[in-house]
Amino acid sequence: MLFEHEIAWENDRVYEEVYRNSIDFPNEFWMQYAQDIEWKRIPNLAYDNEKKEWLSGGISNVCYNCVDRHADKIPEKAAIIWYGDEYGERREISYAKLQKMVIQISSILKGRGIKKNDVVGIYMPMIPEAIASMLACARIGAIHLVVFAGFSPEALKYRLTTSNAKALLTINSFRRGGKEIELAKNIPNELGIDIINLDNIQYHKNVIPDIDWQNSDDDLFILYTSGSSGKPKGVLHSALPYMLYVATTFKVIFGIQPDDVYFCTSDIGWITGHSYITYAPLFHGLTTVIFSGSPTYPEADRYWQIIEQEKVSIFYTAPTAIRSLQMFNKKIIKKHDLSSLRVLGTVGEPINKSAWKWYFETVGNKKCPIMDTWWQTETGGIILAPLRNINQKPGIAGKPFFGIETDIIEGELVIKNEFPGLYKAIVSECATADNALYKTGDGAVYEGSDIKIKGRMDDVINISGHRLGTAEFECAINKISEVQESAVVAVSDDLKGQTAFAFVVLTVTPERDDFAQIVKKIVSSTRNSIGSIAKPDYISFVPDLPKTRSGKIVRKLLRDIANGAENLPELHSVINSEVIDVLKVSVKNPIFCPDMCKLK
Ligand code: WT7
Repeated sequence: MLFEHEIAWENDRVYEEVYRNSIDFPNEFWMQYAQDIEWKRIPNLAYDNEKKEWLSGGISNVCYNCVDRHADKIPEKAAIIWYGDEYGERREISYAKLQKMVIQISSILKGRGIKKNDVVGIYMPMIPEAIASMLACARIGAIHLVVFAGFSPEALKYRLTTSNAKALLTINSFRRGGKEIELAKNIPNELGIDIINLDNIQYHKNVIPDIDWQNSDDDLFILYTSGSSGKPKGVLHSALPYMLYVATTFKVIFGIQPDDVYFCTSDIGWITGHSYITYAPLFHGLTTVIFSGSPTYPEADRYWQIIEQEKVSIFYTAPTAIRSLQMFNKKIIKKHDLSSLRVLGTVGEPINKSAWKWYFETVGNKKCPIMDTWWQTETGGIILAPLRNINQKPGIAGKPFFGIETDIIEGELVIKNEFPGLYKAIVSECATADNALYKTGDGAVYEGSDIKIKGRMDDVINISGHRLGTAEFECAINKISEVQESAVVAVSDDLKGQTAFAFVVLTVTPERDDFAQIVKKIVSSTRNSIGSIAKPDYISFVPDLPKTRSGKIVRKLLRDIANGAENLPELHSVINSEVIDVLKVSVKNPIFCPDMCKLK
């Protein structure tokens, strides 16, 4: 059964009124949904203005709400259905079984001396044990720090040390795209923290650690993401307010029903994998389908095959995945019965018209609304989404969620009020969130009463929905001895949405043949510093970079040049404007490096 807010998310007229109400009476709105949480002590009010605290006085536990209570009521129901790299590789984990796994892992953690508020790293692929590890931390009040399994040893080490992690949960290896990936071998030796390899340990018997109850100020996790500096930042999220936010947005925006089978193709290495693979679906006692393989291995029908086999009703993926699957022969998708689908979602980057149309017509058979959800690691959960009906406009993220007041100031989307999903602090920079006005860094415009997202305004680059800082690329490139300086900018890419274009100034003029060697060094340095997903697709060796009198690189100009803009603005601030013509020529013929194989 759907309630007022869930219904209002389907209908324009009702939405306006219900939205107004949620802004005028936020306490009533959030307290209504706080009732979905099972409390040990009920909070006094939704937001305490004086303490600046959500769910003040409330006591509960995230794992208890996502696992234990369902293990009591619906023990046999599948909590997680896992699909592996090959057809037929499938595991079903019931709520009872998940509870057992969680208890085992939390008892190991306890046994190793992990206490409430300790940070525990998780370096694992998309397997049920990874989700159980997150929940095991939550159960004992430890703070998890998931590091995407595709990140390099250096990136892993940076995250673990700057967040002061006490232990790291991992496994030996996994298979993806037909290849064996030796994960544990990626862990640097000199970390000095407790490495807990779940493949190698003995589970304790008969140890059932008590639930460590969390209060409104307790934390749930840290997740690193990219900003405009050269180093990733550790975003800290609360436990109970975050859970309230992701559970409520999920329920209302997707209009979930108890028998929904939900499949999200993200990874726990990203915020989507935290909020809408793990916490929101399990909170509501749904079945969450996860996949650790590649969408195109052995054939490009893996998503469609899983949807058909599990009768998936809600499917949530990224525009880049849609674009890459759209290119395959129609027969591949037509072979599968996708009639179980009711709601489709996308997240991660703006969705282009052609991908939207294919998703709506071919995947959803014109029956399913496309929920183009806009949000960020920092917001914890969805901020903007269109209403859930099929009269949508492609590429428009739509309306603010109930209780969220958005505005567009100088072209930038901002959030003007407190909401329970917002991050608490950046651990790596010792900064706390400023609740007064949250600037998103994304450009946006109004289209009627809807908001359309244009993309990042800062130096964050979105490659296939993966958020990376151009400064992180530059730091990696500048480490190479032949490089004097570099500037990395985002250029549009038909498949990836955006990709990295590096302008590189060398200290020496190499022989012709030596360029290939330097390109190889650049690619391996970015891969080593960040991970396999991070690599400039284009490199242009140039004599100089456009600069201001104070020596600042004029990135905006480089971005325009790299994107082939016809008319460049007159920039009087550039002191070495003679370089501009050279740059314009150089970008017409950059070195294209689609993958490492070509360079070997
Ligand atoms: C950035 C946040 C939110 C989970 C995955 C990404 C871009 C995200 C959309 C969308 C246009 C989008 C924004 C945002 N973005 N969703 N529906 N339409 N752009 O989380 O890694 O923190 O990245 O992704 O630029 O700022 P993230």
